[in-house]
Amino acid sequence: MNACFQVSKPIKHQMMTKTFILLLFCSLIRPSSSINFLSKGSSLSVDDDSDLITSSDNTFTCGFYGFQLNAYWFAIWFTNSNNRTVVWTANPNRPVSGRGSKVTFHSNGVLVLTDVDGMVLWETNMTSTDADRAVLLNTGNLVLKNQKGQTLWQSFDYPTDTLLPTQTLTKSKRLISASRKGSFQSGYFNLNYDSNNVLTLSYDGPEISSVYWPSRDPNYEVWKYGRSSFNSSRIAVLDDMGVFISSDRLQFNASDMGFGIKRRITIDYDGNLRIYSLNDSTGLWLVTWQAIAQPCNIHGICGRNGICIHGEKTGCSYPPRYEWSNHTDLSQGCKPTFNKKCVNSISFGFVELSHTDYYGFDLNFTRNISLEDCRDICLGDCRCDAYKYKLNGEGFCYAKSALFNGYSNLNVEGAIYLKVPKAMETPISTSILTSSMPTCTDASVVMIGSPSMYESSDTKVKWIYPYSIAFAVGVVEVLLILLGLWVFYGNNVFVANLEDGYRLISSHFRGFSYHELVKATKNFKVEIGRGGSGAVYKGILEDQRVVAVKRLEDVTGGGEFWAEVSTIGHINHMNLVRMWGFCSEKRHRLVVYEYVQNLSLDKRLFSSSFLQWEQRFKVAIGIAKGLAYLHHECLEWVIHCDVKPENILLDAAFEPKIADFGLAKLSERGGQNDEFTRIRGTKGYMAPEWAHNLPITAKVDVYSYGIVVLEMAKGIRLPNVIVQGAEEEESALMGFVRLTKRKILKGKELWIDEIIDPRLEGLFSKKQAIKLVEIGIACVEEDRNKRPTMDSVVQVLIDCESELCYKE
Ligand SMILES: *[C@@H]1O[C@H](CO)[C@@H](O)[C@H](O)[C@H]1NC(C)=O
Ligand SMILES: *[C@@H]1O[C@H](CO)[C@@H](O)[C@H](O)[C@H]1NC(C)=O
Ligand SMILES: *[C@@H]1O[C@H](CO)[C@@H](O)[C@H](O)[C@H]1NC(C)=O
Ligand SMILES: *[C@@H]1O[C@H](CO)[C@@H](O)[C@H](O)[C@H]1NC(C)=O
Ligand SMILES: *[C@@H]1O[C@H](CO)[C@@H](O)[C@H](O)[C@H]1NC(C)=O
Ligand SMILES: *[C@@H]1O[C@H](CO)[C@@H](O)[C@H](O)[C@H]1NC(C)=O
Ligand SMILES: *[C@@H]1O[C@H](CO)[C@@H](O)[C@H](O)[C@H]1NC(C)=O
Ligand SMILES: *[C@@H]1O[C@H](CO)[C@@H](O)[C@H](O)[C@H]1NC(C)=O
Repeated sequence: MNACFQVSKPIKHQMMTKTFILLLFCSLIRPSSSINFLSKGSSLSVDDDSDLITSSDNTFTCGFYGFQLNAYWFAIWFTNSNNRTVVWTANPNRPVSGRGSKVTFHSNGVLVLTDVDGMVLWETNMTSTDADRAVLLNTGNLVLKNQKGQTLWQSFDYPTDTLLPTQTLTKSKRLISASRKGSFQSGYFNLNYDSNNVLTLSYDGPEISSVYWPSRDPNYEVWKYGRSSFNSSRIAVLDDMGVFISSDRLQFNASDMGFGIKRRITIDYDGNLRIYSLNDSTGLWLVTWQAIAQPCNIHGICGRNGICIHGEKTGCSYPPRYEWSNHTDLSQGCKPTFNKKCVNSISFGFVELSHTDYYGFDLNFTRNISLEDCRDICLGDCRCDAYKYKLNGEGFCYAKSALFNGYSNLNVEGAIYLKVPKAMETPISTSILTSSMPTCTDASVVMIGSPSMYESSDTKVKWIYPYSIAFAVGVVEVLLILLGLWVFYGNNVFVANLEDGYRLISSHFRGFSYHELVKATKNFKVEIGRGGSGAVYKGILEDQRVVAVKRLEDVTGGGEFWAEVSTIGHINHMNLVRMWGFCSEKRHRLVVYEYVQNLSLDKRLFSSSFLQWEQRFKVAIGIAKGLAYLHHECLEWVIHCDVKPENILLDAAFEPKIADFGLAKLSERGGQNDEFTRIRGTKGYMAPEWAHNLPITAKVDVYSYGIVVLEMAKGIRLPNVIVQGAEEEESALMGFVRLTKRKILKGKELWIDEIIDPRLEGLFSKKQAIKLVEIGIACVEEDRNKRPTMDSVVQVLIDCESELCYKE
């Protein structure tokens, strides 16, 4: 009962519903009159739902696949995957009508797809009078055979975006991504062999084309990536074990390597190449390998002028003075809000965007040059849209003729200077990494892989937090229920979200091997902190992300550890330290966090480098938002149990991030029972419930928060510990609270000046200060029912953040 951790909601009956609907669903989808071959002269009609060919083991089904009202594809799909995952289509770019379309196996051996009006939209390229039957093999290959059993034509020779085990990719073939989620329309990303015999991923758009894997550097040396350009056989295959081998010496394995698992390798609409493994019992796909860890390394992902952000938030954004070209399709990039025409009558200036670069398209590269001279080069050339300048011992200047492959990350040195009309110039440097806070209505950033990235339909694009596993689980449940409806009503738009769920899981949160973390931390060289649950080390991952790696002590349990860490790991809020992954190997239990640059709050309050009022108020709001999210918004509520200044980290913009949430649960998992065997928290910040053995609720965090804000107001610690044996004495905190309450009752506003940190020398907003102290006092109420909730605290503080409260 005394549970200081996630409070699960009852799910039992939902699970039963889920199972029931799943069974119902499976029995409905399985065709009763299916066959596994089509004989000469016969046809499949779009009008008859049971006109399907299934492979003899029922893994694959071939037939008409439709999803919009009246658009159908002749396709092959996994029979029992949750959403009938399509692995091949004959007519990706030319759907047929839902009435009167058919596929006919003519007597001359040609398989022909015709639309309602008899128009031929697709046909096999082989004629042979001795053709006999079209068979769907257990591999997912649709094969036309003659009477001797020889193969005349096979769908494996014409892949779309997916390669199935044993299907080969050869020099003449390529996989082409779909243009967007839920579409078969061909997009711009390709997997194929280049002229150097190297298997590459490239963006081949209407305006540019460029290779981004194995490297985004055009001068890369293939051998550095373990590839070879000498073998001209150009053949690659994923085998039944989950091992992918290519003639250029590329080899990789699915993480669940082994026989008996259904897999596919697909180039997704987001340009990444992934191996998926099917969970037979749920029908859901799991990503078991992917080519690119960092989505911003995929070229063209944010379109022309667009910028891929890789930081706290990952997504596409537009630069200042630009806007989306097409709100319904962000991959089309952005366009300037001004007239770019370079005529003498218009004078231009620049907007500086720090930590940003656009890859490629250099008009002119000059070294050892000053910023002013670089600026003049760009001003003097009408073709120049922007220039990149960075100082690295000497000045490097790149004039850009086009803005593609933009990316922004704190590790990017220097700034890009965008050419804009003089009237639009801003004198200060801006950054899209820190300037706008990602609130729920942030209009400029869209998550990669979120449904809205390519499909937002209104002008106000919403910021969407990556789904947590908890959320995904919820989604699965809801989906299964909706899926039931879909079976009846033929509406399946909801299903689209599911794939996002697991995509994001794969790209934002993952398991690390112990070896990987040893390498990242250089064998745990730099210790940056040590807390109750273990020491924290700084490290750099292979994709250059800087991380903090925490070694947990006293943690056991394998599967449970994974389940809980992943729940915590998928909680994402800007005021909570982000968990990127974990490692659970033998006795090692490590958690990988984002690295937060600045010091913890205690070092910014109780030392000489103290925060000013404005920052303190902002920090107070941030902590409240983070806690409110944990208490009220995540699907599985989390109580922190150890809120104190040491656990509040500040980033470069002094935005607070709460660390160590959820760990209370992990360290308790060793024992049999779910009850707390040992008091958690830190003396001085612990609510009285702990001492009185009362049930622990989120109000313990409210109490600790109260102490933290009172300390922020006063700028000193307020010990709430009474020396033993001196019961008459009052703790410093209680004394302070009692005195302040009395002053407030007297009703004069002067009391606030006596309380607030004198080091601020009176430079603070009185109204804000009064509000904060009042909240602090309400939070440390002995009776937890009298304490406010974090939700209401956020509301009060936000109201006070506004002008009204600020300018008295
Ligand atoms: C049909 O296409 C395949 C693969 O592109 C090719 O190998 C074959 O020669 C073609 N056959 C005819 C008759 O064009
Ligand atoms: C699920 O299938 C439907 C067509 O039946 C499609 O519209 C939708 O995009 C699919 N979802 C995913 C995630 O592929
Ligand atoms: C080229 O690659 C193929 C397929 O991987 C392999 O069988 C062959 O031995 C390789 N040839 C050389 C010269 O390495
Ligand atoms: C993949 O598995 C094979 C064994 O089947 C092994 O030889 C190879 O080293 C593995 N490759 C990677 C990259 O792990
Ligand atoms: C498949 O999913 C079920 C239910 O989520 C899970 O219990 C099982 O371990 C999964 N199997 C595999 C092979 O991942
Ligand atoms: C925006 O993109 C959508 C989807 O690609 C397309 O249908 C629409 O015509 C585009 N709108 C404009 C104004 O280009
Ligand atoms: C770059 O531009 C400057 C000034 O226009 C010019 O002097 C220089 O030669 C150019 N460099 C190259 C490599 O074109
Ligand atoms: C850079 O330019 C300055 C003068 O503009 C010159 O004195 C210096 O030698 C140059 N450095 C290099 C490395 O070219």
